[in-house]
Amino acid sequence: WKTLDDIDMKGKAVLVRVDLNVPVEDGSVTDATRIERIVPTIRDIMAKGGKPVLMAHFDRPKGKRVPEMSLSLIREDVERILGVPVVFADDCIGAPAKTAVAALKEGEVLLLENTRFHEGEEKNDAMFAASLAALGEVYVNDAFSAAHRAHASTEGVAHRLPSAAGRLMEAELKALTAALTEPERPVVAVVGGAKVSTKLDLLGNLVRKVNTLVIGGGMANTFLAAQGHDVGTSLAEHDMADTVREIMAKAEEAACEIVLPVDVVCATEFKAHADHVTVPADACPSDRMILDAGPETVARIAQVFEGAKTLIWNGPLGAFEIEPFDAATVAAARKAAELTKAGHLVSVAGGGDTVAALNAAGVADDFTYVSAAGGAFLEWMEGKTLPGVAALDQD
Ligand code: 3PG
Repeated sequence: WKTLDDIDMKGKAVLVRVDLNVPVEDGSVTDATRIERIVPTIRDIMAKGGKPVLMAHFDRPKGKRVPEMSLSLIREDVERILGVPVVFADDCIGAPAKTAVAALKEGEVLLLENTRFHEGEEKNDAMFAASLAALGEVYVNDAFSAAHRAHASTEGVAHRLPSAAGRLMEAELKALTAALTEPERPVVAVVGGAKVSTKLDLLGNLVRKVNTLVIGGGMANTFLAAQGHDVGTSLAEHDMADTVREIMAKAEEAACEIVLPVDVVCATEFKAHADHVTVPADACPSDRMILDAGPETVARIAQVFEGAKTLIWNGPLGAFEIEPFDAATVAAARKAAELTKAGHLVSVAGGGDTVAALNAAGVADDFTYVSAAGGAFLEWMEGKTLPGVAALDQD
């Protein structure tokens, strides 16, 4: 892909697709990571004499003007974090946007209103994409985390202007390529989370690409149940047994080792500090639910990490949001962080829950790379082409 180094932006309005879909509670941004991550791109564009015009979606207003989903709510946060004046345009196309672009001074940034206030955004409507494209002379996509959407601002516009990847987009692509497309082997993937059914494509792709696949969370219960173990009242998809067996067969064919829990923590209910016992994976009492992997499993995972060169992680190993059932996730994350710091492992993680779990374990900064993407990270791991990436000009 072309990067900011390949295009001339001096004196030009640069239309930049960013992801400002940040969590907001009671009017305050609770996690500004996505805003912080766009800083290098915006600074670089300004240093090259370009005038950044930021284009983003916020939540899912479905083509309607929803006041609680206005990007004006986070304008001040963007201004504070970028450290330059940020002007707001009340619409992302038409007269308000055009006038604001024309009035934009060097040293200022323009933030356009939520692109999803228009139906044309998600429909990738040609007229709407043309109206967006009319606002700039160059297009930069820095929203890897929205690149799995073939929307007007992520895909359509790229075909209408000279385009380039922003610094965050570049960093994401580089890290994910190093982890999955051209990794140093052996590669281990950790996949956790609630359901096998939502991660079928992911598991199908990973067994062909990685040497070891560690399965955790509710998904592991489904695997244990498919092997004929009683999983008590655990969250498990019993109707997925055949699918699980197919995945196991595919893994065997591809010489990918699947690591399942060998011991489990079984609780009486889904509640912090609920009464719990640690038992072998085939011995969950029928009136209890598995909420975490046990210490023997953690030791096995640590051993796998020690023998690996690359780790790609998506999804917690247990009910990490309630103590003490975060123990396996925290211990495994710390092991990965330790090996990464010692230079033995390249570790890449992504997905909302995963990043929250790594933050809770206090190790997110020690990983080689933590993606800002949720759905896009998953689709990349599934081996899919991301439309927002594919549409960018090639080198
Ligand atoms: C995200 O939050 O993962 C991205 O901003 C994409 O948002 P979406 O799932 O609403 O398209």
